[in-house]
Amino acid sequence: MIPDDVVEEVRARADIVGVIGEFVQLKKAGKEFRGLSPFKKEKTPSFYVIPAKAFFHDFSSGESGDVFSFLMKHQGMSFVDAVKYVGARSGVDVREVRRGRGRDDPWRPYYEASAHANAFFQERLWEWEGGEGARSYLDGRGIDREAGERFGLGFAPDDWSALREAASVHGLDEGILLELGLLKKSEQGRDPYDAFRNRIVFPIESVTGRVLAFGGRLLGKEGKGAPKYLNSPESPIFHKGEVLYGLSWARNHIRRDASVMVVEGFMDVVSLAAVGIRNVAAPLGTSLTESHARLLKRYTTQVRILFDSDPAGLRATFRAADTLLGQGLHASVVTLPDGEDPDSIARAGGAEAVRGFVAQAVDVLDRKIAILDERGYFDSIEKTRRALDRLLPTLRAARNKQLRDIYVTRVAELTGVQRKTLLGELQQRPLHAVRPRPATSRRRPSPRVHGLGAERTLLLLLIKDRDWIEKAGERIGPSDLEDGANRVIFEALITDPELEALPDDTMAQAVQRYEKLMADPETLASPEQVFADTVAKIEGNGFDRRLEAIEEEIRRAGTEEQFRLVRDKERLMKERRALPIDWRRPTRKLLAFGRTQQGGEDRK
Ligand code: UTP
Ligand code: MN
Repeated sequence: MIPDDVVEEVRARADIVGVIGEFVQLKKAGKEFRGLSPFKKEKTPSFYVIPAKAFFHDFSSGESGDVFSFLMKHQGMSFVDAVKYVGARSGVDVREVRRGRGRDDPWRPYYEASAHANAFFQERLWEWEGGEGARSYLDGRGIDREAGERFGLGFAPDDWSALREAASVHGLDEGILLELGLLKKSEQGRDPYDAFRNRIVFPIESVTGRVLAFGGRLLGKEGKGAPKYLNSPESPIFHKGEVLYGLSWARNHIRRDASVMVVEGFMDVVSLAAVGIRNVAAPLGTSLTESHARLLKRYTTQVRILFDSDPAGLRATFRAADTLLGQGLHASVVTLPDGEDPDSIARAGGAEAVRGFVAQAVDVLDRKIAILDERGYFDSIEKTRRALDRLLPTLRAARNKQLRDIYVTRVAELTGVQRKTLLGELQQRPLHAVRPRPATSRRRPSPRVHGLGAERTLLLLLIKDRDWIEKAGERIGPSDLEDGANRVIFEALITDPELEALPDDTMAQAVQRYEKLMADPETLASPEQVFADTVAKIEGNGFDRRLEAIEEEIRRAGTEEQFRLVRDKERLMKERRALPIDWRRPTRKLLAFGRTQQGGEDRK
């Protein structure tokens, strides 16, 4: 027997088109794949694979099912063999658990201990006299017993050993409770103690409904050493990057509604359910991971993100959206009023209020565009270019072809950059590769040394003091930087200002440089000055490079094109002159120097 969780996991990760495609020649037809029936002889294809539903259907023989039933029907495999076969192709370690006692499931004692703890917490909440405070707390937050019980909520008493004692009566292994993070080792070598104390406890379930871990909300005010929310640590059965709170209860509603709302916290999930909105799930105090996205994709491709609308929440929103897009999902953003979360909206205005906001969900690309627009990013060619730098990651993230196509068209219309150019841009810089420099800037190594110094210094400042990142992003874009690795770092910082390290698959030179900058002990004496100087320098260099590129284009273009380019150039020069600090003179000279070196053929 293979544990249910493992079967679900294999099913979720399976590339059904790939697996069936080994036996049937498939051709893409819209969202589906089509081929000749492998079960019945036919001339016109009526066998369909529908990846979005992880399902196949054969109209000529009437057979249908998931990837496993295909292998069972077509290859005569047993269910277990089919799961193993697909598992091997999707990187899931499929281990069989022998039937009978089930003693061979190595994690069984962990699930049992979790289930036991959950039962204990629930009893303390609903039946125990001392649970009164917790009951009235929930009541005050609009969570009645029905909603509370649906989510298995419990109460961890304000006691150092309540759970430990109850567990020992039932003969539960203390070592396992320690591993699950339900107990903690005492520093003074005394007995282990309860980790969750004086908290409302939220059991965290796998999609199949097994309790894996807990989250606990402190009753009353947080203080030192007592954070508002406490989550179980990673354990043999709990990997928070792979679990979404609420999904076990929400999944059928998500299917039915064909969409999911992703919220920030436990309370949001429970409160929304209490007013009847059930297609809701939350990551567990972390950013949304690829595994989360794949998990959601089992049930729907439409994701609405309802995070905080403050700057940090917005960054988390865009990061989450890119992750979702990367898995072929569609992400839209629900904007809530300042300081509100779905829980507070639901409590104040009920389901109707929540639905009102959700109805105004905006596609993530449009949300980005709106924000850039509010900040005046489309007022000039130069700023539009920077806006483009900020939109490109979302375009690149979009794995779904149709969606990407719509995005490209939208951005092309908005910025006046041709679709062709955008597509080239997307191809040229797959994720973190380097954008080749414009042909004209290949020469002149020496005069730019100073510029590169400015790039390094600025990056150092941004890494040391992350508050500058937003400001820098408003003035310059990655393409203003000369050095490829610096561009990669700058783009990564703009996308995620809290970034600790670059992902491993990033250009190696950039990864190393980032590490070096992180480790650099240098402190910058007057950050304002450093910021002003380096940004101005880089901004100026960026302009010059672009002017050179335009000049080069003008030389090559036909008459009609030339006219447009010359106008662009003039506007660019005007914007250049309007820069806050006058860097024109020195760089202008270098520019002239560079030209004569190249032969000075471009002087009229
Ligand atoms: P919030 O601080 O926004 O709390 O954290 P909330 O959900 O509005 O909670 P209430 O309404 O005050 O009860 C959102 C999520 O961030 C994680 C939790 O998962 C929480 O649900 N978090 C928050 C932590 O892990 N630790 C904390 O100390 C705070
Ligand atoms: Mn809240």
